[in-house]
Amino acid sequence: MSIRSVEIAENLYYIGVNDRETELFENMWPLPYGVAYNSYLLTGEKTCLMDTVKVSKSSEFVEDVTELMGDRDLDYLVIHHVEPDHSGSIPQILELYPNIKIVGNQKTKNMLYDYFELKLEDNFVLVEDGDELDLGDRKLTFYTTPMVHWPESMVSYDAQNKILFSQDIFGGFGTVDGAIFDDQADYNSKRDEYRRYYTNIVGKYSKMAVRAIEKLSPLEIKTICPVHGIVWRENPARIVEDYTKWAKYEVEEGVVIAYASMYGNTALMADRLARYLAEEGIKNIEVIDISKTHPSYIISRVWEKKGLVLGACTYNNAAYPLMKNLIHLLSIQKMQNHVLGIFGSYGWSGGAVKDLLEFAKAPNFDTIETYVEAKGRMKAEDDQALRQMAKELKEKIK
Ligand code: FEO
Repeated sequence: MSIRSVEIAENLYYIGVNDRETELFENMWPLPYGVAYNSYLLTGEKTCLMDTVKVSKSSEFVEDVTELMGDRDLDYLVIHHVEPDHSGSIPQILELYPNIKIVGNQKTKNMLYDYFELKLEDNFVLVEDGDELDLGDRKLTFYTTPMVHWPESMVSYDAQNKILFSQDIFGGFGTVDGAIFDDQADYNSKRDEYRRYYTNIVGKYSKMAVRAIEKLSPLEIKTICPVHGIVWRENPARIVEDYTKWAKYEVEEGVVIAYASMYGNTALMADRLARYLAEEGIKNIEVIDISKTHPSYIISRVWEKKGLVLGACTYNNAAYPLMKNLIHLLSIQKMQNHVLGIFGSYGWSGGAVKDLLEFAKAPNFDTIETYVEAKGRMKAEDDQALRQMAKELKEKIK
């Protein structure tokens, strides 16, 4: 038994690694609870490795693979997804097992050249949507899932054992701390990090995610083996349900007020608006200072709430730089089913509200009519306008 591997079923091992060192996923998204890169090893008649792990973790990964493999040769390496958090240790595996055949689709093959200069010919098994790979004691069927998360992304399904190897789909942030399986882990405490992973990493491709989930829906799935996070064997429907909800932009009552403020004037407007929303009977109001909160948390929290209100102070005749960054990220995400409100402040010439109004033209937002732009500290008329904003938000949210 290798150091970190865990038996999932007969001749199937989890060989994921935990990464608690990397501060930022994709060098952008905070990882306060780390992340796991999962790989799986099939050790039946034919041996088959499912993906690898980030290169920074290759030594412990290789240790696990070689210990489990013993004297056996590795027949196949299936590459479901070429992003380097999963493909980073391919060179080490190829060096150890030079006879191995890599399994992927045409896009996989092209990307493996792009990223590793791998010239794959006889040692590449090209599969297309619906193709099977016979491993002797089991067969894998491949289903392409383009843009979830990359163009080459695909999953594989072991129909005999009803196991889905789902790559990024159904994964989440956070290390796997001993509790490999959903029946051992507390998913409720991890759910926020799963949603933050989905919304920021996969969220832009939600339409494609819905298509992928619908494509896989006829399969009877007893176990889901993703490349991040826990393995689902007791209640795989739980993560499918959450992913479906997120991919379909299903929202609940609630408002996130995300504001940028230097000296408290815009913050005051955020708090006033929150109070008026509460008076209107809106539940689940969250006020977030964007200077203290990474945009990935804001995007994740807004995703399930119907209302988003952005408030910014003016900085150099434009919206505060961190708000510019947030609206840029929100523009990329193209979230659906959200009501938008805006407000802001300025000292001598405007800029913040002008930028927010420009952002509010995005057709994916249902923007309320009233907006507020205070000069300096808000006055009685601004306060009245905030009240009006709360009423209009309620009309669209309740
Ligand atoms: Fe976990 Fe898209 O790679």
